[in-house]
Amino acid sequence: MRLQKEIMSDIIIRKAAAEDVHTIAEIEKASIPQPWSEAAFADALTQENAVTLVAEAGDEILGFITGVFLFDNADIYSVATSEQHRKKGIGASLLQAFFDTLPSEVETVGLEVRESNSAAISLYEKYGFERVGLRKNFYEEPRENAVLYTKKLR
Ligand SMILES: CC(C)(COP(=O)(O)OP(=O)(O)OC[C@H]1O[C@@H](n2cnc3c(N)ncnc32)[C@H](O)[C@@H]1OP(=O)(O)O)[C@@H](O)C(=O)NCCC(=O)NCCS
Repeated sequence: MRLQKEIMSDIIIRKAAAEDVHTIAEIEKASIPQPWSEAAFADALTQENAVTLVAEAGDEILGFITGVFLFDNADIYSVATSEQHRKKGIGASLLQAFFDTLPSEVETVGLEVRESNSAAISLYEKYGFERVGLRKNFYEEPRENAVLYTKKLR
């Protein structure tokens, strides 16, 4: 799957493989507090109802998205772009590719995000997610509220 025209032309998005897990975990660790472990990403790759995609240029992984689906709903667990490649449309393209990869019966996509994460909130709102709730003190280190978002796919 090729990315859209505003993205550098040599970037592709593809399903993640076992050999990508180390880099995915490194990007996650550098991007958010309380990151998933490498083992958690590896485990997600073995789940039939999980989707992990990477954005890649040459043999360098620039970002990833991971989530699961069950019946008519999917949840995004994590999306991140490596710091030096942000603001180039990679996060948006990963999000769109995630939607495109979901089975047709999936109607809604949910996620939670730290209340202070304005970059991610801006990304989600730009791509049609609506704020549906708040979980007080959901996150640790630092303790922070989670904002819940949902997007209707169809
Ligand atoms: C959130 C994140 C994934 C965005 O990735 P990205 O590749 O930089 O995103 P894009 O370039 O595709 O940006 C798409 C839109 O997101 C929003 N956005 C991205 N970065 C932003 C920033 N620093 N400030 C405000 N809005 C931002 C904008 O609406 C942007 O559209 P625009 O370029 O037309 O203004 C990236 O900042 C990141 O990896 N953050 C750390 C990890 C993280 O917080 N993940 C979310 C956990 S819930």
